[in-house]
Amino acid sequence: MSRTGKVTVVGSGFYGSTTALRLAEYNIFESVVLTDIVEGKPEGLALDINQSRSIENFETKVFGATTTSDGAGYEKTASSDVVVITAGLPRKPGMSRMDLIGVNAGIVRGVAENIAKHSPNAVVIVVSNPLDEMTALAQIATKFPHNKVMGQAGILDTARFTNFVAEKCKVEVSVVKTLTLGSHGETMVPVPSRCTVNGKALSDVLSQSEISELVDKTRNGGAEIVALLKTGSAYYAPSAAAARMAKAVITDSNEVMPVCAWVNGEYGISGVYLGVEAQIGKNGITKVMETNLTSDELSSLKVAAEAVRAKQADVKDL
Ligand code: LAC
Repeated sequence: MSRTGKVTVVGSGFYGSTTALRLAEYNIFESVVLTDIVEGKPEGLALDINQSRSIENFETKVFGATTTSDGAGYEKTASSDVVVITAGLPRKPGMSRMDLIGVNAGIVRGVAENIAKHSPNAVVIVVSNPLDEMTALAQIATKFPHNKVMGQAGILDTARFTNFVAEKCKVEVSVVKTLTLGSHGETMVPVPSRCTVNGKALSDVLSQSEISELVDKTRNGGAEIVALLKTGSAYYAPSAAAARMAKAVITDSNEVMPVCAWVNGEYGISGVYLGVEAQIGKNGITKVMETNLTSDELSSLKVAAEAVRAKQADVKDL
């Protein structure tokens, strides 16, 4: 079996290291590079993952690279096809994702500039928070075309929604389809009209108040985990989502996924990074899809677009 593609994961916290492990276990990439500013941590984690290869039966090799903010160490990431940026601080209990904007903007800008220098043709997947704003900032800092920079959130939020619906209806997750659009924050837009259970509309299976409760739970999905963990934020579902996006790029699968993408006229919205469904292939976003929304859902999406537009305008100066 021939393995292709080099994926770099920036940041060796739980999110980054779990993403690297998932990518390696797919056994389709030639190499995965894991970086961090904590000396030795990415190298140690890479050794550990590589030592699991004969047990879990994968050949993809993981390399660790300690980096510095002035760009040392980034040569090991050179010519990556995909770069997943997890760098930055996670939330603490009680914090919103937006509370991280000041500190994470500086980190993401520096990383993005170094990535652009060493991997000028990469597709960049941002997962740092606040997600929609950090995605916009990574595009500005890399100066890459908008289609080559995207953010991970919709797959995660949709997966959370699916899990909550499956639990409520006491069915397997495999028979549930859900969708969330909008921001990865206060203005997340779960889309009940696109949700089905065993092919039946969600509104035929659950009452309006039950659906509203699950929509709220989904919007609060990350915060619920942060409150329980007390230090750090979720990483199993988030890393699964980010790894899927990297896989879609490297395999040029053109799968349609909910992601944070640059919107240019779809839904009557332009010039902003927003959670929408998009087709993902080797050049990143190959097409933003428009889906039928109820008028309430569409107006919520427009509210989300204006909220993130205002914040994304601020990140230029951070
Ligand atoms: C979450 C973080 C990773 O939603 O944004 O769990």
